[in-house]
Amino acid sequence: MRLSVNIDHIATIRQARRASEPEPVLAALLAEQAGAHGIVCHLRGDRRHIQERDLKLLRETIKTKLNLEMATTPEMFDIARKVKPDVVSLVPESPDEVTTQGGLDVAGHKKHLARYIPPLQKAGIRVSIFVDPDRQQVEACRQVGVDLIEINTGRYAEARKEKDRQKHLEEVRQAASLACSLGLEVHAGHGLDYHNVQPIVEIKEISELSIGFAIVARAAMVGMSQAVKEMLALVTG
Ligand code: PXP
Repeated sequence: MRLSVNIDHIATIRQARRASEPEPVLAALLAEQAGAHGIVCHLRGDRRHIQERDLKLLRETIKTKLNLEMATTPEMFDIARKVKPDVVSLVPESPDEVTTQGGLDVAGHKKHLARYIPPLQKAGIRVSIFVDPDRQQVEACRQVGVDLIEINTGRYAEARKEKDRQKHLEEVRQAASLACSLGLEVHAGHGLDYHNVQPIVEIKEISELSIGFAIVARAAMVGMSQAVKEMLALVTG
């Protein structure tokens, strides 16, 4: 199991004052030095946290793997083809949301997605889709030809009752197993933290987790290196 660290909220702190610190690029380098297997950032249409300058510097500096989360818009498509991250993760995006509100409706947007995926792949970028743990959606991911999927663990992470948590965990398990049987590489993420990550780590079909908020929140208390190392200890066993 690998860990990719999302550094968006380091940029959120910087943007709160439109200041020059904290520096997301430094956070990414510290995360890598602590053992993270990849760095994730989400360039949003409203630029609320990560800026294009961050993305370019991340591309130049990080040595592991850069995963750019982005909406399927012409603007982001052009940026991705210029910057060439290792992976593009296609996510739904709405201006009013506090964070990504669920997986992409792949089944309902196959034609739209088919316009974006092959040109990105031709540019040497692996393409992922953030998807809810739902049979129809996972099958649609296979049909649109992505290289990998990231299963949304948000409903699992947010469940308050144990019964609901187990139900959503089982949905993630089933989706991971289906995706793997369809030949897709399987990642997972959203809402994972130091307390709820273990049952997800135990799903053998999932090869990578993408975790942001919990690591940045802990980094504010103990520093980035320590926060990443603590999560790595849980994720890699
Ligand atoms: N995966 C995707 C597709 C996301 O949009 C996010 C949030 O940016 C994450 C994972 C990480 O979620 P969290 O910040 O809750 O760990």
